[in-house]
Amino acid sequence: MTTHVIDTATASGMFTDHGAHVLQWRPRGTEPVVWLSDLAVFADAVAIRGGVPICFPWFGAGRSGGMTPAHGFARISEWRLNSMDDDGSAATAVFTLSSTDVTSPLFPYRYRATMTARFGADLHLALDVHNDDDVPFTYEAALHTYLHVGDATAVQVEGLTGDTFHDKVTDKETVQSGPIVIDREIDRVYRSTRDVHVVDPTLDRTLTVRKGGSASTVVWNPWIDKARAMTDFGDDEWRSMVCIETANVGVDAVELAPGRSHTMWARIEVE
Ligand code: BG6
Repeated sequence: MTTHVIDTATASGMFTDHGAHVLQWRPRGTEPVVWLSDLAVFADAVAIRGGVPICFPWFGAGRSGGMTPAHGFARISEWRLNSMDDDGSAATAVFTLSSTDVTSPLFPYRYRATMTARFGADLHLALDVHNDDDVPFTYEAALHTYLHVGDATAVQVEGLTGDTFHDKVTDKETVQSGPIVIDREIDRVYRSTRDVHVVDPTLDRTLTVRKGGSASTVVWNPWIDKARAMTDFGDDEWRSMVCIETANVGVDAVELAPGRSHTMWARIEVE
């Protein structure tokens, strides 16, 4: 596993070819924004706990359930680092993964995925998927962004009021009213194209996740019991993170005709 360190005028950061995974991002003069578990495991074919895992070509156990590995094969595969540029104010890494590198009987198509990560005063992430096959295919994807917060129980997640969500904890469909407060396990798939704001009074800042080409937003915090059950997640670490995942999952999976591409992007800003 090759790891790369970013050190520009505007930010520091780190990423690895394993999963084209952003591990750290910290704009100058701020607390870290991207969260990484102290217990994250860095090994072949293992998903890294924290940072920005790329879920592709399915999310969780997939639309029909039972698909493995969880969240697809992209996050546990070695991507090719195609370019790495630093223009003085930001550093940009571009990775590719294609069906000549990794494939699965559960996704037996010719595809080409390109991941771009631009580390500057903002963090810009884009996942482009191209259908290289002769037949259409459908895929799910998520930029499974772990955000660092001062105290999860004090944050408010704004921007989703009025949007419907599937609550994976209760298995119910609901409409969001008001900001999300993290006072229990939160595992929700929203149908939403809107930007999300994580208002963090403890660190006295607001993290904004802007996005495009994305019709789903997943919000996740494992809370106490799930945190204890995960071997790569500290018992108390649930307090310092929340995942805001820019996604196209479930009914919002992307259908791609032969020769066509789709780009999903997220930009994280700190105010
Ligand atoms: C979230 C899912 O996106 O990822 C949760 O909605 C899941 O259900 C979480 O628990 C973490 O998944 P994993 O595979 O990285 O443990």
